[in-house]
Amino acid sequence: MAFGLLKTLLKPSFWRYTLKKIESSYNTSLGAIPRLGSYGGGFIDSSMTFRSPENVHLGERVWINEGCKVWASKSSKVTIGAHTLLGPNAVIVADNHGIQMDAGYIQDQPMEEKDISIGPDCWIGANVVILAGVTVGEGAVVAASAVVNKDVPPYSIVGGVPAKVISHRKSVEKNVLLHRAR
Ligand SMILES: CC(C)(COP(=O)(O)OP(=O)(O)OC[C@H]1O[C@@H](n2cnc3c(N)ncnc32)[C@H](O)[C@@H]1OP(=O)(O)O)[C@@H](O)C(=O)NCCC(=O)NCCS
Repeated sequence: MAFGLLKTLLKPSFWRYTLKKIESSYNTSLGAIPRLGSYGGGFIDSSMTFRSPENVHLGERVWINEGCKVWASKSSKVTIGAHTLLGPNAVIVADNHGIQMDAGYIQDQPMEEKDISIGPDCWIGANVVILAGVTVGEGAVVAASAVVNKDVPPYSIVGGVPAKVISHRKSVEKNVLLHRAR
């Protein structure tokens, strides 16, 4: 038994996994809030996680529901504008693994890191995935379970995999008020 334990302790994969676990517990919402790049207050559910919180910027009254992941990286930022709402299990992930052939294992290849920006007054539905490099325009709605790999026009409603415009928000008056408020 002692030999088995020693063998496990000598495996790099064991230490990679353990360090990852420690890092992710450090990045749970409560641990990470004081380290956010900027934070304007609002609701952050305790079950969500941040990554590289120093590169996450949250505007005033951003609402982050259960199970969300807001994953910036060492050199990519995630910015979420004021009054924006993330539905449960939304995943915002600002990097991709390298996937070159013949360049080693995918998990060993360098990451491609790109900023994500989500405008103010957006609603990101349940189970949405927003990929690296995307900008979601002000006031846009992303329908449940969409995978967003391209920019989303302001005040549009996008849905599907990959996400496409399915509709537009209709209350023009509210949008006018929003612009006047700034
Ligand atoms: C997008 C949403 C808000 C509805 O917006 P809407 O403007 O009323 O849209 P409609 O229901 O009129 O649908 C417009 C079209 O989009 C399609 N659509 C609606 N929701 C969709 C979705 N999640 N994925 C893909 N297509 C969707 C409809 O089928 C319809 O297509 P059609 O014109 O071919 O029939 C709603 O469907 C949704 O996804 N809500 C998210 C709920 C959620 O995540 N709640 C968590 C609480 S924070």
